[in-house]
Amino acid sequence: MKKVYIAMSADLIHPGHLNIIKAGRELGEVICGLLTDKAIASYKRLPFMSYEQRKIVVENLKGISQVVPQEELDYIPNLKKYKPDFVVHGDDWKDGVQKQTRQRVIDILKEWGGRLIEPPYTEGISSTELIARQKSIGTTPNIRIKQLKRLIDNKKIVRVMEAHNGLSGLIVENAFIIENNKKEVFDALWLSSLTDSTAKGKPDIEFVDLTSRSNTLNDILEVTTIPLIYDGDTGSYPEHFQLLVRHLERLGISAVIIEDKIGLKRNSLFGAEVSQQQDSIENFSYKIKIGRQARVTQDFMIIARIESLILEQGLDDAVKRAKAYLEAGADGIMIHSRKKEPAEIFDFCNEYKKFSNGKPLVAVPTSYNQVYEDELAKAGVNIVIYANQLLRSAYPSMLNTAQSILKNKRAKEADENCMSIKEILNIIPGTNE
Ligand code: SPV
Ligand code: MG
Repeated sequence: MKKVYIAMSADLIHPGHLNIIKAGRELGEVICGLLTDKAIASYKRLPFMSYEQRKIVVENLKGISQVVPQEELDYIPNLKKYKPDFVVHGDDWKDGVQKQTRQRVIDILKEWGGRLIEPPYTEGISSTELIARQKSIGTTPNIRIKQLKRLIDNKKIVRVMEAHNGLSGLIVENAFIIENNKKEVFDALWLSSLTDSTAKGKPDIEFVDLTSRSNTLNDILEVTTIPLIYDGDTGSYPEHFQLLVRHLERLGISAVIIEDKIGLKRNSLFGAEVSQQQDSIENFSYKIKIGRQARVTQDFMIIARIESLILEQGLDDAVKRAKAYLEAGADGIMIHSRKKEPAEIFDFCNEYKKFSNGKPLVAVPTSYNQVYEDELAKAGVNIVIYANQLLRSAYPSMLNTAQSILKNKRAKEADENCMSIKEILNIIPGTNE
């Protein structure tokens, strides 16, 4: 029996896949190289179904003899391992981004006399379209809440962007670029207390209450499907924090981050310039513990945010607190800094590795914005949050437009800053349907 290799993600099986498998099984015994979640996450969004779920589906397809993991987008390691007589792939990769991958497959097969077989692409059905349609159906709290842990497990670093209303939520979910054959996207949303308060014209001092913040949350959840991390400020009293945990978990929020401050909370980026008080380790650990007891599932994460560097208490204090908070049951740590350089963050990362037991670390490079994601990932950061950039870029543009109209006594000059009427009418998905 000849050996046939077919690689696939198999997230949404359609007749195109079945045509390829059919062509394969006419040639011999079909081994399916099923792309792992990590392999898929390396070049586009995570699949809807986990590897295990996709494996069950594929194993039960007629004509598949064996399913093996393909750990990388690159075929070569598996081809070397299984030395198939044939690789079967649709002929739609002859041009475009996969052209070089195809050539490499042909070249390596030559080493043992294998051949590439390319049945014609099945017209009238497209995974891209199916994914778009699936997205338009939306998600459920149950599905959304689990996504953050899956991302942490499968991505080098999880990229999170602030949203403060439905429209900015849509930008975070839908913005992408294609670079080096990879689709670069934001993985998750951050509901920042700073931008949520600022968008409402209020200071970031825990004045905007949960009812109001839940309205923002709801607006964002309604139009997005990616996971969300909630900025829980200090978490308030332990008794309040328990209720907050329940509230957020029920909505399908994946994580809350609370900071170890007490009394009137001021924004961290003020640092020690304003009076702010750090909570005691005992109090804050108790809050974490009681929050943990309140949650219903293992999916919801409570992340403890350490303000020692912000309040100039030094690295040792930050490390001591990180140990205590993890001990109290925190699912991860956020370390914050307002220095212009990332040095103190990297120092913390070095220490954190020694005792974190793989619990995720979060960084928010607002002031040390020169740092690259790769550098953070290498230092051991699992989640990077861009905490305020969408609002900070929208505001100057709106102010310019307002001033232009005041100056010119008409709107014509401001038009160059504006999207067209046609664009705004069509910006929301489904407007025209
Ligand atoms: C926020 O985005 O509200 C934060 C991060 O808590 S910071 O503004 O830097 O404190
Ligand atoms: Mg905040």
